[in-house]
Amino acid sequence: MDKLIRAKITALGTYVPPRVMTNADFERIVETSDEWIVSRTGIRERHVVDKGVATSDLAAEAAKRALAERGVDPKDVEVIVVATVTPDMLFPSTACLIQQKIGAKKVWGFDLSAACSAFVYALQTGAQFVQTGAHKKVLVIGADVMSSILDYSDRATCILFGDGAGAVLLEPAEDGEGIIDFEHEIDGSGACSLYMPGGGSLHPATHETVDQKMHYVHQDGQAVFKFAVRKMADVCESLLARNNVKASDIDCFIPHQANQRIINATADRVGLKPESVIINIERYGNTTAGTIPLAMQTAREEGKLKKGDLVLLASVGAGFTVGATLLRWTI
Ligand SMILES: CC(C)(COP(=O)(O)OP(=O)(O)OC[C@H]1O[C@@H](n2cnc3c(N)ncnc32)[C@H](O)[C@@H]1OP(=O)(O)O)[C@@H](O)C(=O)NCCC(=O)NCCS
Repeated sequence: MDKLIRAKITALGTYVPPRVMTNADFERIVETSDEWIVSRTGIRERHVVDKGVATSDLAAEAAKRALAERGVDPKDVEVIVVATVTPDMLFPSTACLIQQKIGAKKVWGFDLSAACSAFVYALQTGAQFVQTGAHKKVLVIGADVMSSILDYSDRATCILFGDGAGAVLLEPAEDGEGIIDFEHEIDGSGACSLYMPGGGSLHPATHETVDQKMHYVHQDGQAVFKFAVRKMADVCESLLARNNVKASDIDCFIPHQANQRIINATADRVGLKPESVIINIERYGNTTAGTIPLAMQTAREEGKLKKGDLVLLASVGAGFTVGATLLRWTI
């Protein structure tokens, strides 16, 4: 049998909208305080779009930046996989809108829904096309406009999220490089712990669903917190063990940024080096599918992510969805 070709990340681009909402801004909207938000979550500010700006706008900008970094013409992209829980519309897919906005041609693509784990799921989905030899240039984008589905009168959810996007280009790797392995798991018993009940086929939009605020994020914060703390560590330990990698061998740990306490608890339990842990939640909040590529960018900016580094990505999100990826950084 032919040896499987690995996929590697050859470019990274990110984009956040310029407008910033600080914790002080939230103190004026709901009964909260900067002290509460920082101590419970680690968040200080988040970026939010202006009216009329949608997920495909952020995603297209991130995609253009990634392609420019590699000097790849959009016309040479073969597949676009878009991780998002806030598509511009239910259909057409955000992938189609991005194709048009970046000027890609003869490309195919689709959206992938896995909430906060969507970027790692999309990364792996894109990698499969490279590994089979079906495609050589796959654009994987994580983008969300969480501000479009937040109830700004619910202090328990509105302070947590922000808007943002990131894109990576996947290409065939040389021996030993690129995406090494992954472990994913879904658990629908958590479906009612974090969800948006309105607007789908179960509760199509009506005056009633709007009156009942069903088109917003609903969350049982403690249930999600407990699950995330346990499962993020479980999946990391299992992936490392299967690959005979010690936690101390990880140069850069890039976790989903939902809560600084979840990240610290995971890093402690897995035994990761404190200096390997990337945290940027204070600047962006939880940007759902945008988070991991934005954290990759932060890691690069801080000089903590260099070519050849062994990287562990990890996420837990609505669903529940769980994911971890082991890769060797290649740019
Ligand atoms: C949401 C979260 C920060 C809440 O923190 P917590 O320590 O669990 O807080 P609780 O939900 O127990 O609430 C404690 C109190 O703070 C209050 N509170 C909630 N939000 C508040 C806010 N923004 N400001 C001030 N008080 C707030 C609650 O009303 C509650 O008050 P009560 O004791 O009078 O009822 C935390 O549960 C969390 O991060 N969960 C995971 C969220 C997540 O990861 N989501 C995305 C998954 S990808």
